[in-house]
Amino acid sequence: MCGIVGYVGRQAAAPVLLEGLARLEYRGYDSAGVGVLAPSGVRVVKTAGRVRDLAALLPKRMAGRVGIAHTRWATHGAATDANAHPHSDESGRVLVVHNGILDNAAALRRRLVDEGVALTSETDSEVLAHLIARSSAETLEGAVLEALAAVEGTYGIAVLHADYPDRLVVARNGSPLILGIGEHEMHVASDLAALVRYTTQVVHLDDGELASVTADAFTTFGPDRSPTHKQPVTVDLDAADFDLGDHEHFMRKEILEQPVAAERVIRGRLDDRFATARLGGLEIDARQTREIDRVVILGCGSAHYVGQLGAGLIEELGRIPASAEPASEFRYRNPVIEARTLYVAVSQSGETADTLMAVKEVKRKGGRVIGLVNVVGSSIARECDGGVYLHAGPEVAVASTKALTNMALGFALLALHLGRVRDLSATDGARLLAGLRRLPDQIATVLEDEQAIAAVAKQLAEAESLFFVGRVRGYPVAREGAQKFKEISYRHAEAYQTSELKHGPLALISPSVPTVAVVPDDELLGRNVGALQEIAARGGPLVALTHPGADLGDVPVERIDVPKNEPELDPILLTIPAQLLAYHAALTLGHDIDKPRNLAKSVTVE
Ligand code: AGP
Repeated sequence: MCGIVGYVGRQAAAPVLLEGLARLEYRGYDSAGVGVLAPSGVRVVKTAGRVRDLAALLPKRMAGRVGIAHTRWATHGAATDANAHPHSDESGRVLVVHNGILDNAAALRRRLVDEGVALTSETDSEVLAHLIARSSAETLEGAVLEALAAVEGTYGIAVLHADYPDRLVVARNGSPLILGIGEHEMHVASDLAALVRYTTQVVHLDDGELASVTADAFTTFGPDRSPTHKQPVTVDLDAADFDLGDHEHFMRKEILEQPVAAERVIRGRLDDRFATARLGGLEIDARQTREIDRVVILGCGSAHYVGQLGAGLIEELGRIPASAEPASEFRYRNPVIEARTLYVAVSQSGETADTLMAVKEVKRKGGRVIGLVNVVGSSIARECDGGVYLHAGPEVAVASTKALTNMALGFALLALHLGRVRDLSATDGARLLAGLRRLPDQIATVLEDEQAIAAVAKQLAEAESLFFVGRVRGYPVAREGAQKFKEISYRHAEAYQTSELKHGPLALISPSVPTVAVVPDDELLGRNVGALQEIAARGGPLVALTHPGADLGDVPVERIDVPKNEPELDPILLTIPAQLLAYHAALTLGHDIDKPRNLAKSVTVE
């Protein structure tokens, strides 16, 4: 949600910044801007629209070896040229890019106006440029500190000042900022995606930390100006992981990467000797594991739906009461934090503000929270007491796919581990290990059916409104299927428990409202087929995500068969065709699949 890039070094800054912006565009894409310190003074080019619109406006040669840039997802003020970042003070000598939300911006804007300042945007961020410019501190670092002392809220910022041409000053509080250490050059970004092309040596700033960055050095310090002595760490990422390659869309690339990604999350974690999963990062010993008497899973959006699937797995295999709740609601209901409850935060990006705040709420009240996170070193991963990395690799498409599959697998590993410390038999443990080993190849088998699934998707794309239904293990699959469909096709897709249809929603079933039903070949097959009959009787078109040989009776239904695994693991495979349905429906409708309207990858504001 918004992307920040900064550069100070020996190259021309503008092309480096533009390249970084293109890589961060998935973080927000309604406006973009670049500001550099040229020999002639500070130059800013910004516009509503995409990074490509910005690129078209930039002069061919834009001198200046220090600069900052931003791609925006609007919070305060519409997506207009004026609201795009960087923002400047009245003299145009101070530039600021900002991610996050300043809660007291309205009061600060009023104060500045009373003092005679002419504000040029509707944003909260602009106040920072004026506060820095008006500071009487003797250094840029001091001026930034003074300005930050006046604001309340969350921020990741990068500041450029014409009076300090050798440096950028950056700061973080609740919104990620990373330094990239190069050879006689330094990069700044809100996301590793913008850095890995230039360096693998990075420094993650912590909340409350600032950094002063010149071409050859950086210093990090706290709000009291005392140094924090951060050392660079090496990130294990390849720039090619962020490239589209031969694919038309990141979403399809990421869907197709799932067999390999799934293999990565289970690799080295299956323990045949004890028929369990080995999860070194959990940092909970067997005795502590036995003392857990409840599991609460916290995540947002699709991560919440996978969390629901995870809760089911933990109850089923671990026989521990487990539930999932949206992290976005958690801290606002003043939750009771129990000493014997294990809290699990689940997040692809590791930067979702709602989930991060839920983690902090648990910790503030003395609870234990572990993370299931994809991005190594991310805020949530660092805030948790331990956890399981998902190893899905970078995910760029806003609509999450491979990361969610690996989340589900992460939960399967966790559930197996908890189960085997408690009452799950070695026979069942071995059965699940075998199932997990089969899963990557079975995902590949589903993907081979892409063209047949695409044909079904084309029909579904015609419907203005559709249902996704599932029962018990199938319900989170239905929820995620509906979420994916609505995110990128903009069709109204609503998920229901199959059993709930007759309690109301059946009134909406008609020949123009199709239903995608999750119908695994399990102990509930008969009941599910009964519901299909009720839908068919009302003329509702039906698509079933099911298993080969599952007897769906004489119901007129379009089948999408996926390979059968173990009943507990089947939901993971049943989710894969739902991803392809959403992708191909959106393709049919001609939407911008990787950057759906109004959304952004990683929601770093509450
Ligand atoms: C998934 O397709 C969505 N873009 C969204 O619901 C996402 O899962 C949610 O915002 C949580 O993100 P996270 O996993 O990065 O925390």
